[in-house]
Amino acid sequence: MFNTNTLTRFQGLETPFYYYDMALLGQTLQACADASAKYNFHVHYAMKANFNTKVIDKIQSYGFGADCVSGGEVKAAIEHGFSKDKVVFAGVGKSDKEINEALDKDIFCFNVESVQELQIINDLAKAKGKTASVAIRINPNVDAHTHHFITTGLEENKFGVNTWELPAVAEALAKCTNLRFLGIHFHIGSQITDMGVYKNLCVRVNELQQWFEERNLPIKVLNLGGGLGVDYMNPDENPICDFEAYFKVFNDFLNVKPDQEVHFELGRALVAQSAALVSRVLYVKNGIKKNFLILDAGMTELIRPMLYQAYHQIENLSQESRIKNQEVLSPESGIWPLIKYDVVGPICESTDCFRKDVDLPESFRGDLIVVRTAGAYGEVMASGYNLRDRVQSVYSE
Ligand code: LLP
Repeated sequence: MFNTNTLTRFQGLETPFYYYDMALLGQTLQACADASAKYNFHVHYAMKANFNTKVIDKIQSYGFGADCVSGGEVKAAIEHGFSKDKVVFAGVGKSDKEINEALDKDIFCFNVESVQELQIINDLAKAKGKTASVAIRINPNVDAHTHHFITTGLEENKFGVNTWELPAVAEALAKCTNLRFLGIHFHIGSQITDMGVYKNLCVRVNELQQWFEERNLPIKVLNLGGGLGVDYMNPDENPICDFEAYFKVFNDFLNVKPDQEVHFELGRALVAQSAALVSRVLYVKNGIKKNFLILDAGMTELIRPMLYQAYHQIENLSQESRIKNQEVLSPESGIWPLIKYDVVGPICESTDCFRKDVDLPESFRGDLIVVRTAGAYGEVMASGYNLRDRVQSVYSE
């Protein structure tokens, strides 16, 4: 991701910023497009992961659809050239305004999360003399084996319709004259790395398909959501997810009829490894019990470590390059001693810490520190807390 040229380029730039490796993004998108095309699977990019203009333009250019969770995302998807036939609107709390705007745009499908929402979409569509296509998001009660803050498919979660509510859904669909039933939708969580979880999901989806067919509700679209995880520990060894293995699980275990389409909503897997947060050391504080590296980036730029105890690889680009170029004296052993630092941000909150006890070469004021795998749920979750400047973006191309 980084070479001597990038480092030289970074020296002259104001920090913090997100650095996007557009070539890696392109390779990731190609790998996903190739692996999904093998089975004729359709991928909608989950816009929430990253809606940086250059990033979504590139994703759109590979022919993916868009999975949106707000009126703003629906608008942005269409403005950025995603075909309205490939725009899906999901979310547990769609407002009337958002539903009306999406109806006006004739999007492909609403992923509906409750019986009440079905009725509201029907009423709003009727008022416009339109028919809305809907898929029912079902909570399958399948454990995603991921961090509990990003698990969505268990009965305790607020998402989707529980299976015991399905008779009420069938009843509502029969009454709602302005709805077209397209199929069923699932999303059980994010950062899922155990493929066995997806096998369990397929088994459950097969059972649920049966339920709908027995009630004469034919399913045209099976939407399996997103969630494929990335390797936060080893971004250089595994820069691109194993999309082949991921889609193969669904090909092997999901019952798909010839007239059915299989859809996915991948976010993180498409964008996470393509960006890093680049910052500078403002101050080094050596305490008795702790050494702190105080960066010019914090939870206002990347909140994942603070919100989900998420692990991100942290590297000192400047010192690593000085060592490589032997600009600093090598200890006799040839092994560079590592120092444990708590790498923290400048925000007035004790939780503003990227990671404690990070092993880094001795670091100095002005060194460039990068936080890797920050392309998903990074820039999009940045905030203006403490009235800080909006984080900038820099692109490899
Ligand atoms: N579909 C639905 C309905 C979703 O709720 C999500 C993510 C996705 C697709 C895309 O999931 P992905 O492929 O990116 O895992 N901010 C958290 C992640 C929240 C995920 C929210 N939903 C994080 O930084 O880990």
